[in-house]
Amino acid sequence: MRILLTGGTGYIGSHTAVELIKQGHEVEIVDNLRNSKASVLDRIEQIAGKKPKFYQADLLDTEKINQIFAETQFDLVIHFAGLKAVGESVEIPLEYYKNNIGGTISLLEAMRANNCKRIIFSSSATVYGIQESPEYVETMQTGPGISNPYGRTKYMIEEILKDFAVANPDFEVTILRYFNPVGAHPSGLIGDDPNGRPNNLMPIIMHVASGKIPYLSIFGDDYNTPDGTCIRDYIHVVDLAKGHVAAIKTLKPGVSIYNLGSGKGVSVKEMVAAFEKASGKPLPQQIAGRRAGDLDEFYANPAKAKAELDWQTELTIDDIMVDTLNYLKRENQQ
Ligand code: NAD
Ligand code: WQD
Repeated sequence: MRILLTGGTGYIGSHTAVELIKQGHEVEIVDNLRNSKASVLDRIEQIAGKKPKFYQADLLDTEKINQIFAETQFDLVIHFAGLKAVGESVEIPLEYYKNNIGGTISLLEAMRANNCKRIIFSSSATVYGIQESPEYVETMQTGPGISNPYGRTKYMIEEILKDFAVANPDFEVTILRYFNPVGAHPSGLIGDDPNGRPNNLMPIIMHVASGKIPYLSIFGDDYNTPDGTCIRDYIHVVDLAKGHVAAIKTLKPGVSIYNLGSGKGVSVKEMVAAFEKASGKPLPQQIAGRRAGDLDEFYANPAKAKAELDWQTELTIDDIMVDTLNYLKRENQQ
């Protein structure tokens, strides 16, 4: 297939590009490089043997996006492009709504105008908001309880895609709800490398390990969990990338929704201990107050992805730490 990845130079997009190229797909990327670097394209080539064609463009530039689709007939779009920092979304909500929702609408218009009818969308476990059970299933209600504008953009885009699919019944839409993507490619060539200050646990642990931040603040140890720290479902980014390859095989008209997670919950303290085990060094850390909006525990029920996509995670928390350290070592050598 000829596949366009929006946001494809970013963290998850670049790993997915590698897996798609390895499977023989033709990959092209559109990204405005707001949160990624063009050098990632060479890294993809080094790993997968082929450099994706690259368009530096903003999805909000409707004319340019339309032109890209007019020039090339894509079989599928995988739509990663979006802003994703939860804290920042609280500070500049309009920019998040404009970029994430406006960008998606611009993309869908260009696709419809140029007869490209398949899309896979990067959604998030955040759309589940607050649930009674920590084990999230695709059939649960989404929307209520989402604690920030970023999460609401994901929920709203899901709703837009559902409406769009009703109005365009020949469109094939797959929504993938990622849990907590972490880790790096085992080559050490690509990984989570956000521009600016990191927000998520693993990039912060990496900054602490390389001395850029003095210590990790563990946000609360008084949660209702066995060790008091929050529990999440961390998924190796290579497993996640392979989930996209699996999802391509089952695309069908209408909207299909899948959780991509391991199904296992791991606490912050367990993540830190696994990192220390892999590095052989203690990680400077302090217990800090709770972070607003954090839930004590959630993880995926991944049964639907297993049954319908024949996909499940294969890599462990130890693999995640080894690959993260390998990536960190290479980055620090640059
Ligand atoms: P990322 O920031 O590394 O990648 C996103 C890419 O999109 C970046 O390269 C950025 O430059 C680009 N981009 C943003 N807005 C754009 C626009 N208007 N036009 C063109 N390019 C634009 O993020 P990621 O971690 O790879 O996430 C990819 C997708 O997965 C995002 O939609 C994110 O919301 C979603 N997601 C991420 C996580 C996570 O924890 N990383 C979890 C769930 C869902
Ligand atoms: C993980 C755990 C923190 C930083 C977010 C988004 C979600 C999805 C994934 C995109 C939590 C704790 C963190 C730190 C800490 N993204 N922590 N000290 O909050 O589960 O999910 O990223 O869709 O939508 O909300 O991930 O990596 O920020 O935090 O103790 O310095 O680590 O409290 O328990 P989160 P995270």
